[in-house]
Amino acid sequence: MSDRLPGSPTHETTSRLPSLKPAGEVLVTGGCGYIGSHAVRALCEAGYHVVIFDSLATGHLESVMGSCDFKLYQGDLQDLKAVEAVFAQHRFQGVIHFAGLTLVGESVRDPETYYGANVIGGLNLLAACKRHAVPRFVFSSTAAVYGEPQRVPIAEDHALRPINPYGRTKLAFEHALESYRVAHDLEYVALRYFNAAGAHPSGTTGEAHDPETHLIPNAFRVALGQKDKLIVHGRDYETPDGTAIRDYIHVWDLALAHVASLEHLAAGGECGAFNLGTGAGHSVLEVIRMCEQVSGRTIPHEIGPRRPGDPPRLVADAERVRRILGFRPERSDLKTICEDAWRWHQAHPGAYR
Ligand SMILES: NC(=O)c1ccc[n+]([C@@H]2O[C@H](COP(=O)([O-])OP(=O)(O)OC[C@H]3O[C@@H](n4cnc5c(N)ncnc54)[C@H](O)[C@@H]3O)[C@@H](O)[C@H]2O)c1
Repeated sequence: MSDRLPGSPTHETTSRLPSLKPAGEVLVTGGCGYIGSHAVRALCEAGYHVVIFDSLATGHLESVMGSCDFKLYQGDLQDLKAVEAVFAQHRFQGVIHFAGLTLVGESVRDPETYYGANVIGGLNLLAACKRHAVPRFVFSSTAAVYGEPQRVPIAEDHALRPINPYGRTKLAFEHALESYRVAHDLEYVALRYFNAAGAHPSGTTGEAHDPETHLIPNAFRVALGQKDKLIVHGRDYETPDGTAIRDYIHVWDLALAHVASLEHLAAGGECGAFNLGTGAGHSVLEVIRMCEQVSGRTIPHEIGPRRPGDPPRLVADAERVRRILGFRPERSDLKTICEDAWRWHQAHPGAYR
């Protein structure tokens, strides 16, 4: 790549499918990651011209190759010159910002890396948006901005008291977005995801984190014989079966919510934060049983101690996104999530390797 001009794309693909409508150029940071790669696909299907900026630190080029027509710039958001070089060559009508580091435990051990990637990197992106008068911005936020829930389901007006550096970096960036809206008219939606899960319905792309901390991929690793057993973190919570309850949302529903957010902003819709969950919760044991049902395999598991900072129930109040964005998840029932995830894991036991 050394003979590449600064700011020239590392990959360009040509479309196999015609775009439905010319909807303009959209920058997707972190577009090679788990959620970003599904959003890239959904944006292409909606007719947008997609430009990806990704360091490939945790993402996979294979997650987007062949899925649609896009340009990819490989670079780190903390490199302001690299960010500026991309903006100099395009006229973005929107930015969707997925890029960031996502592991809670790692953020506790290494806060400087998390503030660097999630706050400094994000601020570089906002500076470029301001310089190039980008009108719209959609941000991957998280339920971690709420911290220990005082009431469940959790609505957007719940107190914002994140209990780890990961959640604090995400909240800091939400504050920056609101400040840019006031000062520079940047219209934004911050989507606070609950638990992203599932895979593309075709089984061609899915979750491939390393290390993998999420329940469903780890359950399927056991089902595939890649791990001996699954550890259930605590069975002494005040929940019906004693295990923690979470709100799982299908990655394809998440992807479509990003397209809907861009369209909402383009139509002059309200800015702000929106929960992305279903409003329904499932316990760890329920999820394991569903993974066993869809795979037809036994998933041995063992009860371990609780993880510090894991609340018993995290479930979204999903009313605001429904009312204001008109968004309703379509694949987020637990069975469909697990079936789609199993299709991906079974067909790709080594993930993208
Ligand atoms: N997966 C979930 O359940 C979940 C829940 C809540 C919020 N989120 C948020 O959604 C976003 C995407 O999560 P994911 O699970 O797809 O993660 P992921 O690790 O699969 O994807 C992140 C992508 O960003 C890229 N990246 C990271 N740092 C970068 C940097 N400094 N510059 C350029 N690119 C960089 C990575 O290479 C990767 O492709 C993250 O911001 C995360 O905080 C995820």
